[in-house]
Amino acid sequence: MKIAIVGAAGLVGREFTGQLSSEHQVLALAHNDLDITDAQAVRRAVFDWRPRLIINCAVLGVDRCELEPSLAWSVNVSGPEYLAKAASDIAADFVQISSNYVFDGRRNGGSYTVGDRPNPLSVYGETKLAGERAVAANSHRCFIIRTSWVFGAGKENFFSTAHRSLKAGKKIRAITDVWASATYVRDLVARVIEILPLRRYSTYHVVNSGVCSYYDFALEVASLLEISYPARLIEPVKLDRLRFLAERPRHTPMRCTVSDEIGLTPLRDWRVALAEFIREDCR
Ligand SMILES: NC(=O)c1ccc[n+]([C@@H]2O[C@H](COP(=O)([O-])OP(=O)(O)OC[C@H]3O[C@@H](n4cnc5c(N)ncnc54)[C@H](OP(=O)(O)O)[C@@H]3O)[C@@H](O)[C@H]2O)c1
Repeated sequence: MKIAIVGAAGLVGREFTGQLSSEHQVLALAHNDLDITDAQAVRRAVFDWRPRLIINCAVLGVDRCELEPSLAWSVNVSGPEYLAKAASDIAADFVQISSNYVFDGRRNGGSYTVGDRPNPLSVYGETKLAGERAVAANSHRCFIIRTSWVFGAGKENFFSTAHRSLKAGKKIRAITDVWASATYVRDLVARVIEILPLRRYSTYHVVNSGVCSYYDFALEVASLLEISYPARLIEPVKLDRLRFLAERPRHTPMRCTVSDEIGLTPLRDWRVALAEFIREDCR
């Protein structure tokens, strides 16, 4: 099958490219190859190549969205809209990756399901939600995949680099009062690949099982690396002490009722996935 992956040089885009390339004809489009905010370029790319499936992994990051809200709307809303419209015009399936930041995280306890009402707190969250809606309004053949705290090789975020810092004896700060579902990029992409052929167009929450804070995550990394006295290296901090530009939702573990309905078992626990990631990344 011909598959186009947009935003293909990022963490999730690279993993899709890697997992799909052996069995499919994959066109991996990095930002330099296709700027999704350019409506004409999007239509040209889609109509020239005519893929059966388009996967959009392009995004403007959380804090940058606060600094550049108009660019955030272009990348996270208009871009997905152009792609979904073009996909629909050639009868291709469409995948839009979205985020736990569509929720406010103000509920105490429990996991968010696809039936829960979104209420974003930041420009990033607002634009990710508006992106979902723009995609759904333009394509009847779309899968919206919400995920959270994605870790994997080559990404410079807390979850992907904590093990390297701790292994090198570098101190890290870890937030104790924000909780979510951590997700190994390999498991995320493998699950989406399982979902696609079922053709159940819907919104999904794809995350590893279990809940953690940044601090729990760091402690688990230290334990996997057999670091004695992790308190030497991991400084617990409250969210309010870190002056992020964008407000973070406090408690957004997610589970997927649609996956339950179609018989997909929850993904493995995040700790098992993390152990595999660290083993492979430290080889
Ligand atoms: N990583 C997470 O923890 C996480 C959590 C929840 C949801 N998600 C979702 O997962 C998806 C992928 O995230 P990711 O972590 O893989 O992000 P990433 O590593 O930052 O990759 C995003 C890619 O999008 C590209 N891009 C930015 N603007 C573009 C444009 N106008 N046209 C085309 N490409 C553009 C970027 O290229 P440049 O860098 O060259 O601009 C980058 O390669 C996003 O939808 C995100 O919302 C991620």
